[in-house]
Amino acid sequence: MVGLEPTNLAVHDFESCVFANFTTSARVLRNLELSKNCSIIHYIGLFVCPIFVVWVRKANNYLLIMAKIISLVNQKGGVGKTTSAINLATYLAAAGKFVLLVDLDPQGNASSGLGFDIRTIDKSLYHSMILGEHPSKIIMRTETLGHDLIPSSQDLAGAGIELVHMDNREFRLYNVLREIRTNYDYIIIDSPPSLGLLTINGLVASDEIIIPVQTEYFALEGLSQLLNTITLVRENLQPNLKIMGALLTMYDKRNRLARQVVKEVQDHFPGHVFDSIIPRSVRLAEAPGFGKSILGFDAFSRGARSYKNFAKEVINLEKKDTKKFSV
Ligand SMILES: Nc1ncnc2c1ncn2[C@@H]1O[C@H](COP(=O)(O)OP(=O)(O)O)[C@@H](O)[C@H]1O
Ligand SMILES: [Mg+2]
Repeated sequence: MVGLEPTNLAVHDFESCVFANFTTSARVLRNLELSKNCSIIHYIGLFVCPIFVVWVRKANNYLLIMAKIISLVNQKGGVGKTTSAINLATYLAAAGKFVLLVDLDPQGNASSGLGFDIRTIDKSLYHSMILGEHPSKIIMRTETLGHDLIPSSQDLAGAGIELVHMDNREFRLYNVLREIRTNYDYIIIDSPPSLGLLTINGLVASDEIIIPVQTEYFALEGLSQLLNTITLVRENLQPNLKIMGALLTMYDKRNRLARQVVKEVQDHFPGHVFDSIIPRSVRLAEAPGFGKSILGFDAFSRGARSYKNFAKEVINLEKKDTKKFSV
């Protein structure tokens, strides 16, 4: 299973490339020898060339931009996954990054929140994950430059069941995103409110996870189950999966309980709670009704500022390459 991991694939390509180049050189050498026509320079050249070709290919691997894939996960509904996914993607794009938002939730809130009607969409993530269509055929442009979307549709609700009998059922999304990963700087996945096969596909496809936590009663409820699932995915399917951090959402500073929850979450994820805290804001709740991100709806609101800071933090975290929290 782990053999599908991207770096392993690159290593495979690298080895077969070296082997193929040396085999070709050996053949050419044999022919030259037969014709008694070669000098020592020919010999050296024929062995140095393949090393050079391989080196160039390897360097090219590093130069290729590979999107960082981030899932927003929490099996609880209504904690701000979709709102955070939409606005993180928008502000990353506004910062000049190429971003793809993947709507993995059959309810399609990320798609409708950006103004797409999932009942009338021709092709959705379902067509790529289940029917094998190339993802470039289902990607849609949003109104923010550099921000694309793979929309969801109601078909995806049945996908959770269809996947059960499919080969590589946990790797379907990973395989879809692998096709387009070099086109983006970030791929953001909005997960459904469950820990079913769709969410597992999201985790397996991801490099990092952000856990939105609502600053309300029972905020930490279910988090240990989520952390167990992440551990299982890491042990069995995606060994490089990391937790980037917890994002506190819908914070009301007048509420004493909210302040307590912030403290509890900080104790739960020491050093891995984002400094940006998303306030409870009517403008954030209204924006999806107009099919807009908060940047398009009210760029000067408190909610807009908090998501802008959050996107900055995500970009800076990557630069720092800090040690990530592990469970
Ligand atoms: N910071 C916020 N302030 C006020 N309302 C919010 C905020 N974040 C999300 N909401 C609203 O709360 C509801 C649930 O948010 P959503 O992002 O859809 O959560 P999830 O994707 O986890 O189910 C939505 O109606 C959304 O508009
Ligand atoms: Mg949602």
